Amino acid sequence: MLADRTNRIATSPTMKVAAEALRLKAQGVDVVDFGAGEPDFPTPQHIGDAAKAAIDAHFTKYTTNSGTEELKRAVCDRYRTDYGVEYKTSEVIISAGGKQALFNAAMCLFGPGDEVITHMPGWPTLVEQIKLAEATPVIVRTHAEDGFRLRADTIIAAITPRTRGIVLNSPGNPTGALMDETEMAALADAVASRGIWIVLDLCYEKLIYDQVAHNLPRVLVERMRDRTVLCGSASKAYAMTGWRCGFALAPAALISACNALQSHSTSNVCSITQKAVTAALNGPQECVTEMLDEYRVRRDQLCEWLAAEPRFKLVKPAGAFYLFPDASEFLSPDGIRTTADLAQALLDEARVAITPGEAFDSPGSFRLSYATSMQQLQEGAERILRFAESLQPSRAAAL
Ligand SMILES: Cc1ncc(COP(=O)(O)O)c(C=O)c1O
Repeated sequence: MLADRTNRIATSPTMKVAAEALRLKAQGVDVVDFGAGEPDFPTPQHIGDAAKAAIDAHFTKYTTNSGTEELKRAVCDRYRTDYGVEYKTSEVIISAGGKQALFNAAMCLFGPGDEVITHMPGWPTLVEQIKLAEATPVIVRTHAEDGFRLRADTIIAAITPRTRGIVLNSPGNPTGALMDETEMAALADAVASRGIWIVLDLCYEKLIYDQVAHNLPRVLVERMRDRTVLCGSASKAYAMTGWRCGFALAPAALISACNALQSHSTSNVCSITQKAVTAALNGPQECVTEMLDEYRVRRDQLCEWLAAEPRFKLVKPAGAFYLFPDASEFLSPDGIRTTADLAQALLDEARVAITPGEAFDSPGSFRLSYATSMQQLQEGAERILRFAESLQPSRAAAL
């Protein structure tokens, strides 16, 4: 009845717990929600003010499909300042979130017969977009013991004559792991002459806790500018998830194809949003630092609390705002079998909502978003610890 492509994409297995948590909260049940994939901070005042000014000035009509010239210039300026890379506005497109920027790139680059390498545990949309483009996703895995690091040699080992692209996300969701510049350089050196594209999802680029080298755009631009796609977003950096604005920087021919695709699907991003994001990119960046500082305090505190239960194996995230503990010691064939079961039991018994690792192709682990207040984090951590304590090995097996 439906088009074949609808059979290719998977809906998220996490939806059940998330929907259930929402239902309970709507009924007034006190659920601590660690599920949110978005900042809990309000959008900074000066950004909202720019949007209000846009409405007052009646800046409410279609804009150029690929985005206003001033916003594209703001993106170029931001990337020049942050990474020292030079892009022209003809090499930029403004899209409805990083998600659409990535979708455009996948649809314009990949097709039937192509293999596209990406990594897990990771953000499932990257895989689904490859499938929507009718290409074949090839998954490389990262590991907790290695800090979930993306290694060039593992990716290179997955390359075949059919490899058309490599889609990478750093800082990563759900692991918070960063790809090292040296690994990216080794990868780029290996693929630069082979006609393979690298699409880099930088959605969490502003949320890196330590002063570590993470100039992946420069590493790529220096080695393979003509096959590099950089995708960014205003969502997480500026607490603007609902405004829907992301961008891609890439060679003009690809941007032009993305522009054509977008012109026949969604057209320009909301004009008011574009004014707001221009203010975000051009304006003071202290608001980003303030949010990052707060996420850091929460990360450290949450890790400290959960460390009280040694059966959770923790890797401290270097970026983003998620913790991805391994909980496999709580699982058994005749008790709680999967982390999806664990998520259900936590919701039913402890009133805590988490995202099970199955959502990120990583059963055995689960994701906690710490984009929520310290008070909620403390309450949630206490509930998780009490629940974990009740799950002594005999209980875990019997449940
Ligand atoms: C890794 C990753 N990339 C991209 C996105 C897209 O975000 P947006 O479309 O809001 O920019 C998300 C959103 O959760 C994400 O987690």
